Amino acid sequence: MHIKQNISLKAYNTFGIDVNAKHFVSVSSFDELNQVLKLENYQKKLILGGGSNMLLTSNFDGLVIHINIKGINIISKDQQSVIVKANAGENWHNFVLWCLKHNFGGIENLSLIPGNVGTAPIQNIGAYGVELKDTFVSCEAISLETKTLKTFNKEDCNFGYRNSIFKNSAKGKYIITSVTFKLSTQNHKLNINYGAITSELENMGIKNPTIQDVSEAIITIRKSKLPDPKKIGNSGSFFKNPIIPKELYNELRKNFDDIPNYPVSKTQVKVPAGWLIEKAGFKGKHFGNYGVHKNQALVLVNYGNAKGKDILKLSKLIQKTVKRIFNISIEAEVNIL
Ligand code: EPU
Repeated sequence: MHIKQNISLKAYNTFGIDVNAKHFVSVSSFDELNQVLKLENYQKKLILGGGSNMLLTSNFDGLVIHINIKGINIISKDQQSVIVKANAGENWHNFVLWCLKHNFGGIENLSLIPGNVGTAPIQNIGAYGVELKDTFVSCEAISLETKTLKTFNKEDCNFGYRNSIFKNSAKGKYIITSVTFKLSTQNHKLNINYGAITSELENMGIKNPTIQDVSEAIITIRKSKLPDPKKIGNSGSFFKNPIIPKELYNELRKNFDDIPNYPVSKTQVKVPAGWLIEKAGFKGKHFGNYGVHKNQALVLVNYGNAKGKDILKLSKLIQKTVKRIFNISIEAEVNIL
């Protein structure tokens, strides 16, 4: 274990923002993590996983702890299901592929989501009708205060749409070290009703899809819509889809008759922020070396050497414009640091 000084975080955040960490350490084992947490001369700490859900707007003058603890273990298995525990530093998509190789079903719709296993529960990652919480059993996390390990079961996590206890009362207090899932081993329950999946499977000429086929279809859809962070810096959806009162939705329909919606409750609907941002005229717009992606307006992009502050400024302009046109407040999904 080696603590480095003045390290660029460019390679550690998918937005590719070049800011420095005053101190930086990458931990590959639980022992190393425990040793680092015992160090008393670092007041400020930033826990970094895959760096896929953050916008860095300035240098960090504390200690960045990069969680790189790997390992996937089968805890138990019966005829129908398997319990799998993955350590926090595993890349999420590699974990999905590992499950598909073993024919374990349940997370195939979450293929190609950037980030690591340990950060997935924080925002309850989701795509194409499936969320992490659907297969989540528990996670283990070290308390930064007491340095002891605590298990959070599903109820403890209080999962919601892109939300959990780790974004609320437990925010900044724990380091998730592993996540345990319950997956199917046969008679997999497929979620293929999301429009684009059905048509992609048809394109592939597949009538009775396997979980591997569903994953392949989703990978194709995501590649066609979302920029590859290795080529164009981005953090996936920058904003959450807003949930609005039905009255406001009905009011808006008078002027915008094609505004999409997903039912949430008797009184509320969810509206795609990508649609609002596109209607507000931002889709595909370049602002020098940053902008709004041409295929998905929810995604802000760094075309190279953009500053986090510039992207933040653009996000605020988008929020203000959407508010002015639709009277809807859209909230950032990424953490602004
Ligand atoms: N839309 C537009 N213009 C756009 C983008 C979207 O009009 O530029 C409209 C589409 O026509 C469609 C609707 O918005 O009617 C929904 O679009 P899409 O299926 O692409 O999904 P989304 O609601 O924009 C959410 C997630 C994505 C996830 C997809 C698929 C959020 C904040 N985002 O996007 O998650 O991949 O559904 O399930 O919920 C992420 O979190 O980083 C992410 C990419």
